[in-house]
Amino acid sequence: MSRRIAAAKVSRRPIGRGVGWSIVAAAATAGCHAPMSIFRTGAVESKILAGLTWFLIILSAIIYAIVIGILVAALRRRRHATTDVDLTPRNWRFPIIGGAIVPGIVLLVLFVASVRAERAFPDAAAAPVRFAVIGHQWWWEVRYQSGPGKPIAMADEIHVPIGRPVEIALSSVDVIHSFWIPGMHGKIDLIPGDTNAIRFTATRAGVYRGQCAEYCGLQHAHMAFTVVADPPAAFAAWAARERDSAAVPADSERASGEALITHGPCALCHTIRGTSARGTAGPDLTHVGSRHTLAGGGLPNNLATMTAWITNAQSLKPGSAMPSLPQFTGVQLRAMARYLESLQ
Ligand code: CUA
Repeated sequence: MSRRIAAAKVSRRPIGRGVGWSIVAAAATAGCHAPMSIFRTGAVESKILAGLTWFLIILSAIIYAIVIGILVAALRRRRHATTDVDLTPRNWRFPIIGGAIVPGIVLLVLFVASVRAERAFPDAAAAPVRFAVIGHQWWWEVRYQSGPGKPIAMADEIHVPIGRPVEIALSSVDVIHSFWIPGMHGKIDLIPGDTNAIRFTATRAGVYRGQCAEYCGLQHAHMAFTVVADPPAAFAAWAARERDSAAVPADSERASGEALITHGPCALCHTIRGTSARGTAGPDLTHVGSRHTLAGGGLPNNLATMTAWITNAQSLKPGSAMPSLPQFTGVQLRAMARYLESLQ
C-alpha cells in the first residue's frame, strides 16, 4: 500500500506540472490565433465582456483552489483509529459560513458584476449605421438600406466602420439561428416572425469571424460569416462600390459567362443588379467577387471554389438550397466563374 502511494506521488508531480503549464499556455495564447476567441476584442462591448470573463475565470480559479485545499486538508487529517461513530456535538459554524453565507456572497458579487457589465454597454439609440441581417438555412442575407443611392445586398459578410455605433436588425425566414461575432459582442438569436437588434461599436480595424451559434439543421456548422471593420473612409468607399450595379464583362469569355448565368438556371434564384438576373431565393451576386468566402463561410472565394460550387454544390454542402449543376462543360464553368469573380 505504502509503495503504491509513493509511486503515485513520484509520478503525479511531473504530470500535474505538465497539465498546469498546458492550461497556462492555452490560456495565454487563446486570444492570439483563434478566430472565435472572445479575448481577441475588436469592439467596446467585447472588451467589457472579456473583462467580465476574466473576472469570472479568476474568481472561479480562486474558489476552486480553496475548495481543493480544504479537501486535501480533510484527507490529510489524522484519522481516528477506531471505526466507532463520533457522536460529539458538531460545530455548525463552518458548514453555515462555507455552505451558505460565502456562496451567497459570491453569487451576489457575480450578479453585480454581470449587471455592471451590461450597464456599461454604450447606449446606441442614435446609431449612425444600421442594417439588417436575415438568417437562412444556411447563409446570412445582409441588407444595408440607409445612405444615398441603391441598397446594398451582401451574403455571409458584413462591413462596419470603426468608432461608430452600428445597429443590426436580426430576423430569420426559417428556423432560429444565433448571430455571434466573438470579437464584437455576445450572441443574439434570430427568431422567425420577430426582429431582434444588436448594437456595438468596433474599435479595431481588421477581419473577424462570425458564426451561427444555435443548431439550425444539417449545415449549421457551415453558417459562418466574415466581419470587416474598416476606418470610416474605407467603409464609405466600400459602401459606394457595393451600391453600384454589376460590372460589365471586360472580355468575351466573361461575356459568355454572364450570358450563361443571366439566361440560365442561376437567374432563377440569384439577382445581379444591372442584368436580367432577378431571382430572390439565393444570395445577391452583384458583387460576389468582393466577398471573402462562399457557401456560408465554408469555402474561400476563388476561381477553383467558385467552379466547384456551381457544378457540385451538393457534395460540398449537402442539403443546401444550391443545386449541383453538372450540365455545364469545363469551358462554360470557367467562363461563369471568371465572370462572377470579376463582380467586385
Ligand atoms: Cu443557423 Cu445554426
